[in-house]
Amino acid sequence: MGYNIAIDGPAGAGKSTIARLLAKRKGYVYVDTGAMYRALALYFLEQGIRPEDREAVVDACRKAEVAISYEDGVQQIYLNRRNVTSQIREEAVGNMASVTSAIPEVRARLLDLQRQLAKEQDVVMDGRDIGTYVLPEAQVKVYLTASVETRADRRYKELTEKGVSCDYEEIARDIQERDERDMNREVAPLRQAEDAVLVDSSDMTIEEVVEKIEGLCEG
Ligand code: DC
Repeated sequence: MGYNIAIDGPAGAGKSTIARLLAKRKGYVYVDTGAMYRALALYFLEQGIRPEDREAVVDACRKAEVAISYEDGVQQIYLNRRNVTSQIREEAVGNMASVTSAIPEVRARLLDLQRQLAKEQDVVMDGRDIGTYVLPEAQVKVYLTASVETRADRRYKELTEKGVSCDYEEIARDIQERDERDMNREVAPLRQAEDAVLVDSSDMTIEEVVEKIEGLCEG
């Protein structure tokens, strides 16, 4: 097993920013598991499958091959050999991923890939159930969170800077809805692992959070 750092937490807590930076500093591979759920979600959307149609989702799962590779250290995600790295970032894909990731067969489809990556190399892996389920033996586990307001602020800023017009209230509502779904689903709900360290980034800079986690790796 490689050295495994597991970072879980709700949407918009800064997991990917922190995990990416941390991986770079430590020379580890960053594995974004949310991207894998998003790739499957994109497939469901493209096939015109409704998320409530569980049978169709499960069936489609078998036809969707998700793979990842790295280009200049940046994770690239493939859906049936097509690079979908930028496409999966759309809001609609995120919402579809949030709904369909509650289906056990969808989760099972990605589990081996995630465990295999962590077995072969040193990784910083982020998601919702990494410390609790995917990598229970991870050497370092962090539950990274921030208040809904902070997360909505960050998302609003990010979108506005990209020139995307958006509504703050709608973003906050979306975040709350996604928390609700991710935390209350029956399979692999988002929760802090017993041995995970809670880091609330609401009043911390990115640098402070990365340093804090780096400190945990040495301890
Ligand atoms: O982190 P993200 O927003 O890219 O993830 C998209 C959705 O995928 C999220 O709403 C919940 C789901 N997800 C999951 O259930 N388990 C993971 N390990 C990662 C993501």
